[in-house]
Amino acid sequence: MDNSLLEMDLSTLPKENWWGDHDYLYKVGGFWLLPQFIQSICRVVKHFKPIPSDIILASYPKTGTTWLKSLVFSIVHRSSKHRLSINHPHDLVPTLEVQVFTTSDVVPCSENQSNRIFSTHIPYQLLSETLDSSECRVVYVTRNPKDTLVSTWHFVNKWKKALDCPWQLDVAIDKFCHGLSPCGPYYDHVMGYKKLSLERPTNVFFITYEELRADPITHVKRLGEFLGFPFEGNEQVQEVVNSCSFEVLSNYEVNRSEESPTWFQLPYNSFFRKGDVGDHKNYLSDETIERIDALTREKFHSLGFNYGT
Ligand code: A3P
Repeated sequence: MDNSLLEMDLSTLPKENWWGDHDYLYKVGGFWLLPQFIQSICRVVKHFKPIPSDIILASYPKTGTTWLKSLVFSIVHRSSKHRLSINHPHDLVPTLEVQVFTTSDVVPCSENQSNRIFSTHIPYQLLSETLDSSECRVVYVTRNPKDTLVSTWHFVNKWKKALDCPWQLDVAIDKFCHGLSPCGPYYDHVMGYKKLSLERPTNVFFITYEELRADPITHVKRLGEFLGFPFEGNEQVQEVVNSCSFEVLSNYEVNRSEESPTWFQLPYNSFFRKGDVGDHKNYLSDETIERIDALTREKFHSLGFNYGT
């Protein structure tokens, strides 16, 4: 990220309407950001110095972050079932720009702790200097664009003001296709980390929501090896997979709670909706599916990443 962008004055940034009459996204380094997170994103970019034992979970919003947080937390802290039953995954693994770098403290997190786990939605293109200069491990999860869009649309409509002014699906589709969503464009976000994973496979693990859904045992085992916490047998892997399943997690009181955390305006339960692959078929017309698939072919397939259609 260009250092001149670090002391940012919102009024100088390009902005576009995103939702309703008053919600704007601001463009920073080619990505659209929510104004309330711009200063903290700048702080992360400027001050966060990952140590080699750090684990960073990176994702575009609504692609499986909550699930990945619970899985990686369980892989690192074996026997974490009890902690998962009383803590929301987002409280176990904080998001750098939402829960950690929220004040102007230069070093808000202790560097004396090993195996710290953080997450972020910051695009690689903005965080490249931080990640390139560190031996920390990065796990990136992505999800097919149509399910990501539908999940985002549901999530946004949980905001209180959506009661009066729901976000229309056709508007959401149009914004998504134009790259206009928090941390979007989606395709650039995914390709940033995808390329990084090909360049630095020892440090960056790239996984899709669909792969995790189809064969969680294999991929959780791979994740354990990648993170330096290998499993001793399939029973242990199965235990982690079961304790992090949508069915188990979404039934804990803490994850069903209508209360909002201090760090976000939506209730804890908004991070658990359905957890299916292919739910977009229940919402998107054939024409819209073809529109997004054409975009996916252009943005992913033409670069050799045959995913998402
Ligand atoms: P849906 O809206 O399609 O149900 P994120 O965590 O990045 O915000 O993504 C949220 C999506 O992941 C939601 O998708 C949510 O239901 C799903 N999800 C949350 N926990 C999950 C889990 N343990 N297993 C599978 N999917 C999960």
